[in-house]
Amino acid sequence: MTKPPIGGNRTGRKLGQKVKKGKLKASSRRWIERHINDPYVQRAKLEGYRARAAFKLLEIDEKHQILKGARRIIDLGAAPGSWSQIAANVTGSTDDDIRVAAIDFLEMTQLPGVKILQLDFLDPEAPRLLIEAVGGTPDVVISDMAAPTTGHQKTDHLRTMHLCEVAAHFAIEVLAEGGHFLAKTFQGGTEKDLLNLLKQNFRQVVHIKPSSSRAESVEMFLLAKSFKGRKPAILVDAAEQSAVSETEGRVGSE
Ligand SMILES: C[S@@+](CC[C@H](N)C(=O)[O-])C[C@H]1O[C@@H](n2cnc3c(N)ncnc32)[C@H](O)[C@@H]1O
Repeated sequence: MTKPPIGGNRTGRKLGQKVKKGKLKASSRRWIERHINDPYVQRAKLEGYRARAAFKLLEIDEKHQILKGARRIIDLGAAPGSWSQIAANVTGSTDDDIRVAAIDFLEMTQLPGVKILQLDFLDPEAPRLLIEAVGGTPDVVISDMAAPTTGHQKTDHLRTMHLCEVAAHFAIEVLAEGGHFLAKTFQGGTEKDLLNLLKQNFRQVVHIKPSSSRAESVEMFLLAKSFKGRKPAILVDAAEQSAVSETEGRVGSE
């Protein structure tokens, strides 16, 4: 079970530390204090994860079992790489048999079993490169992407929601039947259209706020479970054809 970290100093460092008042701005000092006193940060260090974000994925997986049995995983917005570490572990990915592809526009230190693309996910080439990199159809697409902050909250919010939407379309295009899609979103931020799209394509759609996600953060996760699969192209063609004939019929009768 993913237990919340206990207080104390298993890393050898005490919680409740203060940063001396000096040249730092008060907001920077508060950030550093919060970081060094965060038990999840300390536990990530102790367990060898690159970021405290690891515990959000582990917590969600513990409840929803989205990683169990996954053969291939795509990680969007992956730096510094704690979700990719977990993905490589559950898929048994190795450098000789890559099963995890990760993308971020930031540089990311190499990880065994993970093919890293340093690229903007919004680049039109990104979907093709990711599929090539992961070497087959993914069972799980995870996205922790958050747009870089501009200081204007509404703009930041809209940009991250856009990333979530593009990631959802990508997942629907590439996932194996029965696969899962997990993405960062914001409280009250998921657009109705996006929710409807996910509900049409997945058997279950839920919002999750893991306890390892800071309470003061508006961050939430959107989980779409059990992809229903894509219709064979021949059925899509037939449906489109019948829609065209219907329209033509209506036009003709006017
Ligand atoms: C919260 S961090 C991810 C942490 C990661 N899940 C981990 O466990 O280490 C969000 C990442 O999304 C990346 N990101 C944001 N927009 C992106 C985009 N358009 N393309 C690629 N990466 C993006 C950022 O560079 C940042 O590294």
